[in-house]
Amino acid sequence: MTGINYSEKIPNNVDLANDRKLQRALEQWQPSFLGWWGEMGPSDFAQSDVYLRTAISVDAQGWAHYGAVKMPEYRWGIFLADAVADRKIGFGDQMGAAAWQQVPGEYRSTLRRLIVTQGDTEPASVEQQRLLGHTCPSLYDLRNLFQINVEEGRHLWAMVYLLHAYFGRDGREEAEELLARHSGDRDKPRILSTFNEPVQDWMSLYCFTYFTDRDGKYQLKSLAESAFDPLSRTCRFMLTEEAHHMFVGETGLGRVIKRTLEVMKELATDDPARIRAHGAVDLPLVQKYLNFWCSSSLDLFGSEISSNSAANFASGLKGRPDEAQYTDHVLRETMIGIDTPGGVQQVPALNALNETMRESYLKDCEIGLKRWNRTIERAGHAIRLTLPSTRFRRSIGSWVNQPVDPQGNLLSREEYDRRLHEWIPSDEDRAYVRSLMQRVVAPGKMAGWIAAPDRGINNLALDYEYVRLQ
Ligand SMILES: [Fe+2]
Ligand SMILES: [Fe+2]
Repeated sequence: MTGINYSEKIPNNVDLANDRKLQRALEQWQPSFLGWWGEMGPSDFAQSDVYLRTAISVDAQGWAHYGAVKMPEYRWGIFLADAVADRKIGFGDQMGAAAWQQVPGEYRSTLRRLIVTQGDTEPASVEQQRLLGHTCPSLYDLRNLFQINVEEGRHLWAMVYLLHAYFGRDGREEAEELLARHSGDRDKPRILSTFNEPVQDWMSLYCFTYFTDRDGKYQLKSLAESAFDPLSRTCRFMLTEEAHHMFVGETGLGRVIKRTLEVMKELATDDPARIRAHGAVDLPLVQKYLNFWCSSSLDLFGSEISSNSAANFASGLKGRPDEAQYTDHVLRETMIGIDTPGGVQQVPALNALNETMRESYLKDCEIGLKRWNRTIERAGHAIRLTLPSTRFRRSIGSWVNQPVDPQGNLLSREEYDRRLHEWIPSDEDRAYVRSLMQRVVAPGKMAGWIAAPDRGINNLALDYEYVRLQ
């Protein structure tokens, strides 16, 4: 069951050949997907050979095959993690009952909405990143960008499969709509606002993959707990792909910081102006990018108090990330404190699940910061990078539109407006970062603002030609 059948038009491990109707429906959607990729995917690299990994099984060990592929020929397909025998629902009011192999009628529209919302983010991120290839800092980075892009395309396939297989005509219509909405489109934007923010430079890409893909990881983890077993299995395999996206973010930012520290040492200064004059990204500017993307990604978890999340949990549709780590899986009796501008408010834990998820997400975000700060400390500098307070720059929840600084202090509106660009990139900062974005494509060479990675991809040398440009 773990093997993937590549002899069919749509590679899959769900025995698609034995469900002719579904196979036909998906084969009809396939050209629309390829059309979308051609129009909205990475611009201008269709003829390049890219050293990509493709899934060959869903085993934890050795699921990937590596080789040179032209992106439009990538074998996007449908890969579910292996079924767990006799899987039981692990949380909510139906805990202990058998997991569902079909969608219960009463949850149909809610479940469809959850799948569509997740599915919408996947092509959105490809659209956001479509121009980045032109300003890559190295072939290594260019390849990583394209790897992420094709996998987000595959994640769209993962959700479209569920829509087609389990939601009939409504599902097929939703699958069409997933290709009709576009990131930043005035008339038909993507569903979630973070996915309408353009990702125009590589600093933003590394922050996006560090913070926003990590939100994706936490959403997938909570959907992997779902009582709806096909959704759980799909998400479990998607998580194995997602890990690489966050690796790109963490190592990307780490390499930027490493290079900055080298320049600081060379010039014996921490003066941002001199560091910029030397073509590196000063650490206060790195902090501004972290503040911007972290606060934007925090909104993706929704309001602290949410009756929708409570209902989704109670009915078994969406659990908490790593549900097994908790002791209470029903949450009908526990209360927790929520931080609001009016003080700590006690609410039923069931209604505060978004906040619970946000907290575990932030713990995961801290890991990279600790590592970067150790490098900064070892280089002998006092500055430390931090995550902004969860109160900062929120556009949803109890701190919505509050004039709060990144440390969480409430300020006057006037002071907040005046100082905002001390905390997030100003137009001038962005223009500076844009000026650094010059494409570097000689094998093994890196742009001057970023250090080389520690190792190449799949044990290849750093100067391997990861993308053969045509
Ligand atoms: Fe994804
Ligand atoms: Fe991702």
